[in-house]
Amino acid sequence: MDVIEAIHSRRSVRAFKPAPVPREVLQAIMEAALHSPSWENTQPWEFAVLGGEAMKEVKEALAAMGQAGEKPRMDFPWPKFTGPYMDRLKVDGRRLVRELGIPKEDRDGMRRWRMSMRAFFDAPNGVVMYMDASLSQWSLVDMGIAAENLMLAAWHYGVATCALAAAVAYPDVLRSLLNLPESKRMVLGIALGYPDASKPAATFQSSREPMEALVTWHGFE
Ligand SMILES: Cc1cc2nc3c(=O)[nH]c(=O)nc-3n(C[C@H](O)[C@H](O)[C@H](O)COP(=O)(O)O)c2cc1C
Repeated sequence: MDVIEAIHSRRSVRAFKPAPVPREVLQAIMEAALHSPSWENTQPWEFAVLGGEAMKEVKEALAAMGQAGEKPRMDFPWPKFTGPYMDRLKVDGRRLVRELGIPKEDRDGMRRWRMSMRAFFDAPNGVVMYMDASLSQWSLVDMGIAAENLMLAAWHYGVATCALAAAVAYPDVLRSLLNLPESKRMVLGIALGYPDASKPAATFQSSREPMEALVTWHGFE
């Protein structure tokens, strides 16, 4: 798959088959993530790749936090979006929930959906991306680039992903299970697996703003 095809065809997948991604494929995906550009090649990213019992343990622990009604307490606080950002968020968010078949008034259904999000949508594999607390906001730019390299490489190998801020809702749980010190900040979870195409959560297509809304051209006819 060429890079343009991968960029345009990749989508977030939120329903996975149970079959795990083979170790060699995960290795190739991680090679691509590690090849990302970063500020003066500082390579701020660190990754915990999860499979088998470790993935099961993490998913169970995160799901248990949700079931216990624990509020998210992320290392980087959940952002408050307003104006056009809130509008865009709502358009796709509402359409996704509709396509999932969760009625608007079904608060319990929404709560279950949010809880499954925090537990990697039960994907067979996951990656937790984290970085050192000494780093600045600039390193978050590098982390985002690495996340996209990882997701595009995965797509190339037929592996679907979903970037999940929700999966780092309980960073202390991740630090404890992954034996990480307090000085490491949990940035992003990424669910990985083969899409369960029978579910709308695996086939949902997000929308994009038209080019004229976000791109201005200078010095052209
Ligand atoms: C930093 C980041 C955090 C995200 N967190 C979540 C999340 O917590 N839950 C979720 O369902 N999707 C999450 N996503 C996926 C976005 O919702 C998705 O990328 C966006 O709607 C565009 O859809 P697409 O990935 O299918 O193109 C996240 C994406 C990014 C880049």
